[in-house]
Order: sequence, then structure tokens, then C-alpha cells
Amino acid sequence: MSGYRDLFPEGLRERLPRAFDVVGDICIIKLPEEFLPIRKSVGSAILKTYKHMRVVCIDRGVTGDQRVRNLEIIAGERRTDTEQRENGCIYRLDVAQVYFSPRLSGERALMASLTGRSESVWDMFCGVGPFSIPVAKTAREVCASDINENAIRYLKENMKLNRVKNIDPFCGDARDAFGDKKFDRIIMNLPHCSLDFFDCALERCAGGMIHLYRICRDPPAVCEEIRNRAHEENRVVEGIDVRKLHGYSVTDSLFCFDIRIG
Ligand SMILES: C[S@@+](CC[C@H](N)C(=O)[O-])C[C@H]1O[C@@H](n2cnc3c(N)ncnc32)[C@H](O)[C@@H]1O
Repeated sequence: MSGYRDLFPEGLRERLPRAFDVVGDICIIKLPEEFLPIRKSVGSAILKTYKHMRVVCIDRGVTGDQRVRNLEIIAGERRTDTEQRENGCIYRLDVAQVYFSPRLSGERALMASLTGRSESVWDMFCGVGPFSIPVAKTAREVCASDINENAIRYLKENMKLNRVKNIDPFCGDARDAFGDKKFDRIIMNLPHCSLDFFDCALERCAGGMIHLYRICRDPPAVCEEIRNRAHEENRVVEGIDVRKLHGYSVTDSLFCFDIRIG
């Protein structure tokens, strides 16, 4: 059995994408150009095979500062809003208005488990809150910033849904957020350009951890860059642990750099 592909004839079946993302009841699939003429049949096959899915969209890529997906609905209900359950929390979101990746679920659980009761945490690029909300359940407080006003609107709704009160949401550029407040832990989930904000994170780190997510092909070079930048800001890097999260392209992968700042 190979799932929805079983509904297609041999020869075509093996070439169709095996994997796709699921957010709530929405399936998001990357379909190579050659299959676009049969996209409606692909959508119907997915809905027939996976009974909990209600919408199928083609992913035409993530663009812009707000990292929003360009989506085309190919089958099912004509909507892009849904509810995702993850790590005992519920997130309402619109996959066409905000960024959300279900692939980081384990990472978000890990961040919550690492956080201590007395910590003040800054989720610099918070989206609809999948790091902020579980972390707030253990932290003293979470400050959460995002430049996308739809993300902050959903974060506020998700705080109520999950009965979490110790999050301070800020809509705007992370560089302008929370004055000169200092933090014990900073989460930087903006993988394409997190390093551009590293100086700002260093300035606000009271001493503690910075978790920097980065898509790259050469993690040692990123570690060197991190050390050089910290040196320029007269900050001490006590250690860096590198974790590979998943592949991104033929050459690049998503890594988390856990940076201990003295
Ligand atoms: C990769 S998404 C991560 C969202 C969330 N942390 C998650 O795991 O779903 C990056 C987020 O950073 C936001 N963003 C981009 N540039 C920003 C900036 N200069 N200041 C604050 N947020 C920004 C985007 O709107 C987007 O929601």
C-alpha cells in the first residue's frame, strides 16, 4: 500500500509525490509541474484515501518577509483556516495568511522541556504561537513578536483557547520590540535570515541560551560566524550545540544552533 497513489495506474503511481504536510484537516502538497494537468484527480484521491482531510492545496512556495505560502485549493472545501493539535495545545490559523510548519512539533516540545520556571523568554518570530504557548506553560513569561498582523491576531486567539496568560504579544519588527528588556532564553525561528538579527538577540540576552534556527549546508561555518559576531559585540560564547532537524534541499538542511551566552 502506498496511500493515495494506489488510486493511479502503474507507471504514474510511482512518480507522484509520496510525502505532503498536514495542518489540521488541510493537506498541503508540492506537485511537480508535469502533474499540474491532473491536479484535481490528485486532490480527489487524497480526500478519498485520508478521511480526516477536508481540503487539499498545492504549495507554490513560501515568499516574502512574512513567510506566507502561495496556495491553490485543488479539492474539498474552499477554505484555508483550520485547527492544528500539537503537544497538547490547539492552534487556530489560516495556512494562506500565516507561516506554520507541522514538521517542528518535536522541536517545540523540546523548547518547552528545556525552559525553567523562573525564565523570561523571547520568541522573536512567533507566528501563531507554537513555540510561545507550550513554553509559556513552564516559563515565568514569554514576550512574542511577529511582523505579520494576522499571526499576532491568531496568537491572541490561541492564548485564550489554550488558557495561557503570561505571553506579551507585539506586532512589528523584532528589532523594535520590548524596549531594552533582557531575556534568559531567546528563540530565533526565521531560518533564512536569523543571523541578521543575532546582534539584536545578543544585546537582549541577559546570559543564557539563544536558539538560532538556520538553513545552511555548512554548520561549522555558521558556528564561526556566530563566534565572530559575538566577539564583535564583546559577548562570550560558552558553547554551541548543533542539531540537524530535517533536509531542506539537495544541498541544505535546517539546523538549530543552541548557543550558550556568558
Ligand atoms: C519561519 S516563521 C516561524 C513562525 C513560528 N515560530 C512557527 O514555528 O510557526 C517566521 C516568522 O517570522 C516573522 N517575521 C519575519 N520577519 C520579521 C521581523 N523582522 N520581525 C518580527 N517577525 C518577523 C514572519 O511573519 C513569520 O511569522
